Amino acid sequence: KLYPDLVTPDSPSKRIGGMPVSAFQQARHFAPMLSLDNIFSESELKDFYRRIGKVFYTGTICLVGEPKIDGLAVSLYYEDGVFKRGATRGDGRIGEDITHNLLTIWSLPLRLKESITAEIRGEVFIPRSEFLMLNKKRESQGLSLFANPRNAAAGSLRQLDPRVAAERPLDIFIYALIAISGTKELNTHWDSLQYLRELGFKVNENISLLNGLDDAVEYCRMIGAKRLELPYEIDGVVLKVNDLERQLQLGHTSRAPRWAVAFKFSSEEEITRIKDIEVNVGRTGTVTPVAVLEPVLIAGSVVKRASLHNEDILKEKEVMIGDEVVVHKAGDVIPEIVKVLKEK
Ligand code: IVH
Repeated sequence: KLYPDLVTPDSPSKRIGGMPVSAFQQARHFAPMLSLDNIFSESELKDFYRRIGKVFYTGTICLVGEPKIDGLAVSLYYEDGVFKRGATRGDGRIGEDITHNLLTIWSLPLRLKESITAEIRGEVFIPRSEFLMLNKKRESQGLSLFANPRNAAAGSLRQLDPRVAAERPLDIFIYALIAISGTKELNTHWDSLQYLRELGFKVNENISLLNGLDDAVEYCRMIGAKRLELPYEIDGVVLKVNDLERQLQLGHTSRAPRWAVAFKFSSEEEITRIKDIEVNVGRTGTVTPVAVLEPVLIAGSVVKRASLHNEDILKEKEVMIGDEVVVHKAGDVIPEIVKVLKEK
């Protein structure tokens, strides 16, 4: 305090102890934050590859595969290598200034290795194990539990007081660089990811350079199989055209780039609530209890009812009206209640 000129912009003291803000300021993005078009199958992936192939008349197109982190998109503005401001996506053009909360994320560098000016995009998330500990702690404090890591991360970033975010185990993966000045010349998305790493950012370790469609299909399968082993939640894979010149040529619609696509994994299990339990009587007199659910999207279709089979199973699973339950649906099989979330 006595020697304020000695305070460096990357001092750890900047991270915590910030004052609460009274309201979120608006933050205009340098470039719009677009969304991604979703695909759900390998045949749709082939269509995407063919579509971009038509534009270039060449054999193989090089793509970059990245896990699609299930968190919150943020935009970070660095001026001359120093972190100046961070914002939520908002409507894509204007977001909310959440700098005070982003400063609490230790893996977000306050000063970069080079003094570049750029807008950086990434995804804020909470690792699975940290999320479980966070909920355990909240339970012991008699506080309400978060439904999933994504909600917990979102809730943390939407706080006016940075002391709340400072207590939450937030982390960030960086996936895009929008150069403004001073950056090295880059020709491919892959090189920009390596460069982001050199600058001091945390870039996902499961990214991969994919040579053509077969590699891309293989990558989606591989990450899909690894999904539950990863220490953070993902909801798919993002595939991006590697060549930056080609990205420009392909351009974007008002909503999403034409040079990228999100291959979404379909979840076979979701959480919902039991609205009612109906009892059906069959022709032979068999009685079958059926759970009436709050409609939930599972593996591509809306599930509204689940069989509870018989009274014994109903009792064994202790299913009651109002319970939050895990519902499972595999292929065309009738949806089933896996378990009651008793902690809820
Ligand atoms: S690229 C113009 N890469 O997914 C391209 N997005 O559904 C914009 N996301 O808003 C996004 N991981 O919040 C990209 N490796 C990744 C990502 C990723 C997660 C999120 C991001 C975006 C949303 C689109």
